Amino acid sequence: MEFPFNINELFHNTITKLEGQSLIKGCNPNFGIVLDLIGEASRNAQNLHRPVTSANSFISSDQILYVLTDPKRNNGNGAVLGIIKTGPKKLFLLNHKGVQHEMNLSCILDFYIHESCQRMGLGKILFDHFLKVEDFDIKRLVIDRPSNKFLAFLQKHYKLHDIIPQVNNFVIFEGFFGQEELASASNQYRSSLPNRWNSMINVNAAGDSSPFRSRGNQSSISCLFDQPTKSNENNNDLWRANSVADFSKPSLQPTVFPPQPVPTSNPTKFNHHRLW
Ligand code: COA
Repeated sequence: MEFPFNINELFHNTITKLEGQSLIKGCNPNFGIVLDLIGEASRNAQNLHRPVTSANSFISSDQILYVLTDPKRNNGNGAVLGIIKTGPKKLFLLNHKGVQHEMNLSCILDFYIHESCQRMGLGKILFDHFLKVEDFDIKRLVIDRPSNKFLAFLQKHYKLHDIIPQVNNFVIFEGFFGQEELASASNQYRSSLPNRWNSMINVNAAGDSSPFRSRGNQSSISCLFDQPTKSNENNNDLWRANSVADFSKPSLQPTVFPPQPVPTSNPTKFNHHRLW
């Protein structure tokens, strides 16, 4: 993806890490142009109604974005080849037995490689880089409604194929719940409610609508120098993240009273007690 300006001034490495918290109003406005256009391209590729990634939602957020670029393309002005974006979420996930666990997790929110270079191994390079830098255990992967391409990608490169069924839009794989996870009851909410009851509970801690904040023109990116570029040497569906109820505000925390069977005092004519 090419732009009418030199993107190598924005992205100093082949893979550059951007932190929403570090990007502030007043930073180079070309960042906003790149984020909006790459987010729009990803939206198109996934057939979503609105982009998951945009400058407005990313800047000042607690999300992290890795941007893969080729500095030599576009007559040396560079081109963006792909992105992967993560963000924190508070989720209620079910293990195999349908036991619900409340967890604060870093989720994959967006992943996109430009159409001109898909199926050439770039997605794997970007994903591997993300895993390494974030020291991310692939078994703990949580994805907000992955596309079929992404599922095929994970199956091929990381042998992730057995999905633990959830009742929300998030996908986790076999091995997600390790032993220590099951043993620790401190941060877990175990529920005897039917799965359907739990289906719409998702607390979005990402805060997608952060406005620009003014902190002057300070440098806004945290760069990775594993592959310095030349310039550096010299110097499903739209509703993915919001598809389930947002209980992030304390006042909206649901009070849950599991229904209990209570036998009636009078037996029916067949000498049965009604339970409900
Ligand atoms: N159809 C089916 N599987 C595909 C695919 C497609 N069009 N494109 C990629 N894959 C999967 C396959 O397993 C493929 O292996 P294969 O070519 O041997 O079948 C593997 O990914 C290729 O790996 P790699 O070249 O490293 O991946 P990539 O650079 O194509 O990036 C995606 C993978 C998913 C990021 C990329 O295809 C993409 O941007 N897709 C559109 C956006 C999208 O669906 N994003 C996921 C959001 S949840």
